[in-house]
Amino acid sequence: MLYGACYYPEHRDPERWEEDLHLMRQAGLNALRIGEFSWKRMEPAEGAFDFAWLDRFVQLAGNYSIGLVLCPPMRTIPAWLAEKDSNLMIVNEEGVSLEYASRYTFCINHPLLREKSARLAAVMAARYGNSPHVIGWHLDNEIGDEPDCHCPGCKSQWQQWLKAKYGTIRALNHAWGTVFWSLEFDHFGQIPTPRITKADYNPAFLQSWREYRSDCNIEAVRLLAEAVRSQLGDNDQYITTNNQMFWSKRTDYYKMAEHLDIAGTNYYPPYGDRHRVLSFGLAASRSFKKAPFHVYELRNEGHAILGAADNTPAPGELERLTMHTIANGADGVFYFPWKRFPFGSEQNHGALTDFDGKPTRMYAECRRIGERLKTLAPFIAGSQVESDIAVLYDFPSRWHMEHRSAWTGDNGVYERQINMLFLTVRKLGYNCDAVGRTGDFTAYKLLLIPMLPIVDDDLVAKLQHYAEAGGTLVFHPMSGIKNSDACYFPDRLHPNMIRLLGSRTAETATSGPHSPVGFEWEGRQYVGGVFQELVKLETALAMGSFTEQWYKGYPAVTRQWTGKGQTWFIATYAEEAFYTDFITKLCREIGISPILSTSPPEGIEIAMRQQQDGTRYVFVLNGTAETVQMSLPERMTDLWNQEEVQDSFTLKPYQVRVLIE
Ligand code: GAL
Repeated sequence: MLYGACYYPEHRDPERWEEDLHLMRQAGLNALRIGEFSWKRMEPAEGAFDFAWLDRFVQLAGNYSIGLVLCPPMRTIPAWLAEKDSNLMIVNEEGVSLEYASRYTFCINHPLLREKSARLAAVMAARYGNSPHVIGWHLDNEIGDEPDCHCPGCKSQWQQWLKAKYGTIRALNHAWGTVFWSLEFDHFGQIPTPRITKADYNPAFLQSWREYRSDCNIEAVRLLAEAVRSQLGDNDQYITTNNQMFWSKRTDYYKMAEHLDIAGTNYYPPYGDRHRVLSFGLAASRSFKKAPFHVYELRNEGHAILGAADNTPAPGELERLTMHTIANGADGVFYFPWKRFPFGSEQNHGALTDFDGKPTRMYAECRRIGERLKTLAPFIAGSQVESDIAVLYDFPSRWHMEHRSAWTGDNGVYERQINMLFLTVRKLGYNCDAVGRTGDFTAYKLLLIPMLPIVDDDLVAKLQHYAEAGGTLVFHPMSGIKNSDACYFPDRLHPNMIRLLGSRTAETATSGPHSPVGFEWEGRQYVGGVFQELVKLETALAMGSFTEQWYKGYPAVTRQWTGKGQTWFIATYAEEAFYTDFITKLCREIGISPILSTSPPEGIEIAMRQQQDGTRYVFVLNGTAETVQMSLPERMTDLWNQEEVQDSFTLKPYQVRVLIE
């Protein structure tokens, strides 16, 4: 279990390093992430490396038994490099070349940037690849967090990428349907990048563009990972990076994770119970390698980014947030940053120590967490978050739903619908995983599909096999409707989706946010919205129907038995009350129990990690400022507070308990 912080030794007078390291040790920290913004200090002039300062810091950290996660930088380049070639700057969608003197303004495909950053990574790895004080390598910072680049280099690379994908321009024209608006191309050299234009671009064009940009980010990761890996000794140093949170869709993290040993993420949720809106990101991080992951930046105190300040954490909230990440599968947590920045762009960001390096209120809390983690870590080391339920998370589908020309409603609908399903499951007190299209569906009894517009033959066949072998699938509108080029199947559904659902789609109607549509299921009344799919049953049974407006009488909930399993279709995006009842009933039927056999009270999060021998650690976290009463099926031991817990107990505001049977 890594317990750490993000530290910037280059900001600090070396005479004060030991003072900081001493405080870190006292707080129980055993790891630091360093280096992602220190290219200039490592290579002050081209090819002239200076590692004397870093050698000294690595040794000092080692003296304090603090392991280092070193970051080879890539996207914050020194001025001497920016000066070498003005084409290094990103050209944005308006055709404007970005300026130097901020961060992430460079074209990640530029050969010079790639060459120099890979060289630096290799030099760093050659120097520290055998160091006992370096535990891992964290590639750059939030790769993918920059605007799309439309420079001439990117444009020609994009055209080559398309040629490799489609082979001939005829094939591309056919796949994209460029006959629409007379946009057929004669050769790949005519294809632009999607810069600002008058009307919408063809969704096929944008779908390929998103995939291409994602591939660019993955290639950047691959190159850095390769440069580091080629130099590593025969030791346990791992390679990782910090993905952006759930709101970022710019990189298919399932594909990117193939180049990493451990998945990592940043985590900046709001405080209070609202932290949940981002918690799907933790399940997603767990799913990229189907293993525990690290949180490389966990917020503490206020936030530096404009508009993101949010509430300052109340006493106890840092503890709750830290344990929330561990409960959801983090095996490493690093606070961002260790020390407040008296200079530079992020002076308003909260930290564990103040401008002068003196401990803050947050430090005291971090130290208390550190003491308790020391006792807990040996118990939970090696445990995993196990779940019978997963939500399918699919980047191609998300890209598609967020193109203006693909769907003319609210483009946050994918994020909202995935959260609706995930959070309902979690609020009912079950663990819930995410799984990607290439993941192992058979690990789950229940697979919830928020929407899945983009499918291919393989994916539909995989879903069919899953259901035939006994799995339960729950589909929603906008699933199985388009091929990989974002064009509709002639029957509105992939032919094998019709078999899987046991129904056809006659029409997909939409309703605005102010016109919910009522439906009935099991004698109870609910509302849905956004889409109402008008379904013609073939072999499926209608289990509930729309009850309002002109939708009245159309099936709203259908069920199709498939081999040993079943496929449900919810013909609208329903309200939470429906999912609460539906998931509870379905879980009972297919034999999935909540972690504590009851649903937690409002604002209480329950999560469970499990050892291979079956030992379960139940995390109970109070996300509210209130004292909450809870009951347990039996007496349990609270490892976090070192006390026995009776079948009825209280949780103080933000209190954390880790229970073992
Ligand atoms: C992160 C970023 C950090 C810092 C932080 C501020 O997204 O990786 O470098 O800017 O936000 O909250």
